[in-house]
Amino acid sequence: MFTRTDLSFLLKAYMSLSAMESIRHASPAVLPSLLMCDFGDLKSEVARLEAAGTKVLHLDVMDGHFVPNLTYGMPIVEGLRKHTSLPLDVHLMISDPLKYAKSFVDAGADLITFHVEAVADSAKVATSIAELGVGVGVAINPSTPMEKLDVCLAHVDLVLVMSVEAGFGGQAFNPIALDRLKELRLRYPELILEIDGGINLETIALAREAGCDLFVVGSAIFRHSDYKAAISNLMNVMEVRN
Ligand code: DX5
Ligand code: ZN
Repeated sequence: MFTRTDLSFLLKAYMSLSAMESIRHASPAVLPSLLMCDFGDLKSEVARLEAAGTKVLHLDVMDGHFVPNLTYGMPIVEGLRKHTSLPLDVHLMISDPLKYAKSFVDAGADLITFHVEAVADSAKVATSIAELGVGVGVAINPSTPMEKLDVCLAHVDLVLVMSVEAGFGGQAFNPIALDRLKELRLRYPELILEIDGGINLETIALAREAGCDLFVVGSAIFRHSDYKAAISNLMNVMEVRN
C-alpha cells in the first residue's frame, strides 16, 4: 500500500521527469539565466520571459564559498515555482550540493546541476540526485581538466560546459568550451549539452555548430529592454548558420 509520502514523491518524480523530457526536446533553446533580472519584480520578469517564448529557466545558485559571489537559494525557487510551469534548471555553484539537493527538489527544481570541482565522488552525487526523481547534470569550469568528468558521465543526463569561470555574469567567452562540446558530442551522442557564460550573437552559433543543445544567456538578454527581440535574435543567428 502506497503511503501519502510515496504518492507525493511519485507525483513529483513524474512531473520532473516529464519536465526533463521537455528540456531534452527543447533543443536548441535559449535559457535565460536569472542572475541579472529584476529580482524586485520577479513575477513580471518571468511572465515577460514566458511571453518571449522561453522554454526553460536557468537559476544561478551561488553560496559565496564555492564561488566568490552570493545569490539565492530555495525560497526563490519556491517563489518561482508558484508562478510558472516552465522547467527549472538549477545550477548549483555551492560547496556541498548533496546537502541541499533534496531541499531544491522540494522547492520545485526539475533539473539539478552540480559542479564536478565541488565534490569528491561525482558518480555517487549524481546517482543520489537522480534518486530524488529529477534530472541531473554535471558542470565543469574551463580551468578543470575534462578527465575529471569521466567517472560520472554514465550517471548524468546533461553536461554543463562552462565558457567562463563560474561566479559572475557579463564575463568574456572562453573558446576552450567549443573543443569540449565537440569532444563530448562525439563520445556521448545521447547526452544533453548545455553551455553557460558569455553567450551572445557572436558566440551562440559557434556553440551550436560544436553540438550544443541548451544555451544559457544572462547579459545578452537582460541588458535589453525587449526580451522577446533579444531571444529571437539569438535563435535566428543560430538557425541561419545551421
Ligand atoms: C555564471 C552563471 C551564468 C551567468 C551567465 O557563473 O552561471 O549563468 O549568469 O551570464 P552571461 O550570459 O552574462 O555570461
Ligand atoms: Zn549558470
